[in-house]
Amino acid sequence: MIAPELDGETLLAQAAALVEGERDWVANAANLSALAGTQIPGLNWSGVYVQKSGVLVLGPFYGKPACVRIALGSGVCGTAAQQRTTIVVPDVHAFPGHIACDPASQSEIVVPLLASADSEDRTGRLIGVLDIDSPHLARFGEAERTFFEALASLLVRSSDWPDDEA
Ligand code: SME
Repeated sequence: MIAPELDGETLLAQAAALVEGERDWVANAANLSALAGTQIPGLNWSGVYVQKSGVLVLGPFYGKPACVRIALGSGVCGTAAQQRTTIVVPDVHAFPGHIACDPASQSEIVVPLLASADSEDRTGRLIGVLDIDSPHLARFGEAERTFFEALASLLVRSSDWPDDEA
């Protein structure tokens, strides 16, 4: 599909309003997942995995039921978490080890959630990942990368997270 233009600024303002005054990570992750899933066209799944004892465990999400546990280094989520970098996959079938939770997914973007005040600092504790999937090939471009990295950063700094059990 040709991705419709993303009004990231408006969506980020809505996201900030949703989390304002709330520090509970489950509530904030649930609302931001639902915001992305309902307001951005062409998505079939958006949600959070949280790192517990070195494994990514399913958290709040919008979409069909998904795999519960993903090892670091496994699939797109586990790779983004291990490498601590955003991964954009235009065609999931071309990504070695992709985990097909929803067979409808064709492309995805995964942003690591890192506990650091500075979004350029990649050394903070690994909290988990933000995972966004689309049933369209190449749904995510630079505008989406910028938006979802900003959304992930907002989610991290606006919430209190469970202690690392690793
Ligand atoms: N696509 C992910 C698995 C999680 S589900 O899509 C929700 C991956 O390969 O890491």
